[in-house]
Amino acid sequence: MIIAVDGPAASGKGTIARALARHYDLPHLDTGLLYRAVAANVLREGLNPAVEADAVASCSFDDALLDDPGLRTDEVGKIASVVSAHPLVRAALLNRQKKFAHQPGGAILDGRDIGTVIAPDADVKLFVKATPMIRAQRRHIELRKQGANISLDKVLADIRARDERDSKRSEAPMLQAPDAALLDTSFLSIDAALQRAIALVEAKKRAAG
Ligand code: CDP
Repeated sequence: MIIAVDGPAASGKGTIARALARHYDLPHLDTGLLYRAVAANVLREGLNPAVEADAVASCSFDDALLDDPGLRTDEVGKIASVVSAHPLVRAALLNRQKKFAHQPGGAILDGRDIGTVIAPDADVKLFVKATPMIRAQRRHIELRKQGANISLDKVLADIRARDERDSKRSEAPMLQAPDAALLDTSFLSIDAALQRAIALVEAKKRAAG
C-alpha cells in the first residue's frame, strides 16, 4: 500500500505520516528533508539558493545527512522552499522519491506533491491542512522550544510567504490531488487527527475491496 500525505507547513502532515507508518508498519520518507538537505548544502557552500545552477550543484548528498537535526531549523526550511521551486532541483530528487514510493510492500511519503507527481497511483491520498494562524501557533511553540526568539507575527508572516511560494510555483505546486481526502487538523488533537487519518485509510481500503 502506498500512502501519500501532502499539505502545507505545520499542518500536522509529518506527525500524521510518522504515526501512520508505525500503525501500518510501512517505511516512511519525509520528502521535505530532501529539499532541506539541498538547502543546507547551499548554505554551507555559500551559494545562492535563487540561482538554479547553484541549487542543482547541491543536490547530491549522503542519506546520513537526512538525520542531521540541523536540517530542521527555520532558516533551512525557508531556503528549502526557495531551492524547491527550481524544476532541475525537483528533477534531481524525483527518482529517489519514486523509487522509495514504489518499493515492494509499499511506503508512506509526506510532502507537497506526493499525490500529484511522485505517486499519482498511491492507494490512499491525504491532504492535511489547518488555518495559517493555527499553523503559526504550532510552529511558534516548536521554534521557542529550539531556543529561537521570534514573535508569533513573524512566524505567521513566514508561513504565509512559504504557502505563497509553494502553491504559486510553476513546477509541481502544492496542490490537493482531486482524489485526495481532506483532513483539517485545525481543531483536532494529534491523537484525534491520527484516528481520523486511520479511518480515512480504512475507508479507502474497504472501497478498493
Ligand atoms: O513542514 P515544513 O513545511 O516546515 O517543512 P518541509 O515539509 O520540510 O518542507 C520544506 C520545504 O520543502 C517546503 O516549503 C517546500 O517548498 C519544499 N518541499 C517541496 O517542494 N516538495 C515536497 N515534496 C516537500 C517539501
